[in-house]
Amino acid sequence: MRIKHLLVLGALFAISCAAPVDNDIDLRVEELLQQMTLEEKIGQMNQVSGGLQFKDEIAKSNVGSILNVVDPVEINAVQRVAVEESRLGIPILVSRDVIHGFRTIFPIPIGLASTFNTDIVEQGARIAAIEATASGVRWTFSPMLDIARDPRWGRVAEGSGEDPYLDSQMGVAMVKGYQGEDLSDPTCMAACIKHFVGYGAAEGGRDYNTTMISERALRNVYFPAFKACVEAGALTLMTSFNDVDGLPSTGNDWLLRDILREEWGFDGMVVTDWNSSGEMVAHGFAEDLKDATRISINAGVDMDMMSFGYLQYVKALVEEGKLSEATIDNAVRNILRLKFRLGLFENPYVDESLARQVAYAPEHLAAAKQAAVESAILIQNNNNVLPLKDVKTILVTGPLADAPYEQLGTWAFDGEAEHTVTPLTALRKQYDVIYEPALDYSRDCDMSKFGAAFEAAKRAEAVVVFVGEEAILSGEAHSLSQLNLQGAQSELIAKMRSTGKPVVVVVIAGRPMTIERDLENCDAMLYSFHPGTMGGEALADLISGRAVPSGKLPMTFLRDAGQAPFYYNHPMTGRPNNGTETLLNDIPVRAGQTSLGCTSYYLDTGYGPLFPFGYGLSYTTFEYSNVTIDKVEYAEGETIVVEYDLKNSGEYDATEVAQLYVRDLVGSVVRPVKELKRFERVTLKAGESKHCRFELPVADLAYWNRDMEYVVEAGKFQLWVAGDSASGSALDFVVK
Ligand code: BGC
Repeated sequence: MRIKHLLVLGALFAISCAAPVDNDIDLRVEELLQQMTLEEKIGQMNQVSGGLQFKDEIAKSNVGSILNVVDPVEINAVQRVAVEESRLGIPILVSRDVIHGFRTIFPIPIGLASTFNTDIVEQGARIAAIEATASGVRWTFSPMLDIARDPRWGRVAEGSGEDPYLDSQMGVAMVKGYQGEDLSDPTCMAACIKHFVGYGAAEGGRDYNTTMISERALRNVYFPAFKACVEAGALTLMTSFNDVDGLPSTGNDWLLRDILREEWGFDGMVVTDWNSSGEMVAHGFAEDLKDATRISINAGVDMDMMSFGYLQYVKALVEEGKLSEATIDNAVRNILRLKFRLGLFENPYVDESLARQVAYAPEHLAAAKQAAVESAILIQNNNNVLPLKDVKTILVTGPLADAPYEQLGTWAFDGEAEHTVTPLTALRKQYDVIYEPALDYSRDCDMSKFGAAFEAAKRAEAVVVFVGEEAILSGEAHSLSQLNLQGAQSELIAKMRSTGKPVVVVVIAGRPMTIERDLENCDAMLYSFHPGTMGGEALADLISGRAVPSGKLPMTFLRDAGQAPFYYNHPMTGRPNNGTETLLNDIPVRAGQTSLGCTSYYLDTGYGPLFPFGYGLSYTTFEYSNVTIDKVEYAEGETIVVEYDLKNSGEYDATEVAQLYVRDLVGSVVRPVKELKRFERVTLKAGESKHCRFELPVADLAYWNRDMEYVVEAGKFQLWVAGDSASGSALDFVVK
């Protein structure tokens, strides 16, 4: 290995190699930077998709990072070119979208959020890092922190849903898992928090679309998870495609310099999204690619993903005085610092046999199964039809029962369908299974095979219908304007209902769907956001009762797509629900012109959602009682101690996600109806009770107020402890 600049600081490096500390790294960055030509600096700022086909460019120092190569042999070959053939021997940063697992695929992120379990999420990210880094991938484009309040947007699959606190908790868990304890450890992978910012607020749920978010909403809703992850040490950040109030994020220096660098002290690296620098031309924000390059670098973007503008135009822009070399140096510092932090100069290569050894390790599969178990949400369970105990023969039907690729969900490029355990395979280990898929895929409208399924049901004691979305229907560029089950899936459920047998529906999908009419045609419904490699085993255990559901909704479930965007923590209106709704059919024929109730609701779908944020049933029942707070009046600096008793009053050992919500009753600006402030998974044996507590520092009630200051405003508050965002009784307290 030829790393020339190492020789210069020889003795110092001998000490720092094991775990580089930042002071040493800064010295090394400066020393290396001094040796670089402008062209070499520009090369570091350029990221390309592919590997050895860019061999010559890499040798000429024109590439700083690659994406989308996962073969360790090719990655080593790429590194060899960079390290041995380029003038300064700077290793390449190898990246990939490792979004919910690398080989062992975990539930999609919205499913991981449904676990409300930061430990399992961190563990999943650690496993993803172990598997991906064994191939030589040291940088993942995850976590996606975009607050998503409109399920028409296909990318709700990739994030943690609608709540800033849950989003922050999940994001931090992923950052910790990917980056591990010691950044220079070869199993550590740099996280990339994305997409900064507001991408999930795309108008009408149409991907890539415009957003109009006030600075206060950015600070109160869209920034917190990014800030929390920066504080947790996230090494990189990706800009978003969208504009916020007319400014595309990739050209927004207020976001990237004032907020990210100055306010939050981020010293990591900023990358564009795929060609988002170039897309500023299409936005009509830059004249051409050269102009877009100038704008994005001046705004604070260090690395260009796939617009090639940096490579083509930075030199000329510097010569023309439109970009300063000091700005370029700063961007390159951020890139080199990352490479040093990751220990890439010491360890650019991987053991080529390692990747296959670690993929699908038994403990990885076990964790993926546990995550899938905890992520499934029991939506309905009439007459306790689930679990299917004392049942021997079941009919398994529906297009998602045996769809190994589809259950992996979006962004599972490296998961291999042959390693997937489908529900059909897993159920066959526990039941006598009759299998009649009835539909080939989720959009299938051909009902000609329904008759066979109907006949088969006669021989079964219960019917389990697996419906939902194929993987391709959610994720990037997969927006939908209606969210009912596709194809003839609802018709299949109705047909199964007509057999008179108990009907269990399992929805395997990438987003919250509008399943109200399907609920009427089944006894029980389990909702499983694409559950990954071990989804089948997890679902089979939940169906049979070997496992008990504990997932909770990280997004509000709608009755109809027309309700979107709809989220529990919306600002209080001047016309809140007063308990009366006049619905369409309540309106007398030829009614005179009159207003109907004058509150904020739809005449067809009413006031509420189908299911609120935080909702999820269990096979047991939980009773909350004796919810108390230690005082009625608090001063700043104090901590609110909330105590409650939780009883498992049913017959199954189970876990409940207890949730603490707060409302700030009067603010200098309108405040949310409720805000999640804490949650805890509490596991109780059947019949067991536990005295539990939350501690909430008063400081956590702060928000960005009318004067755009982050303060706790004195006044009245309310607090709830409950199993979802719509339950519980309010307790009052005052902050002095
Ligand atoms: C997506 C990013 C992703 C990138 C690289 C883009 O299209 O928006 O989330 O990380 O591609 O694959």
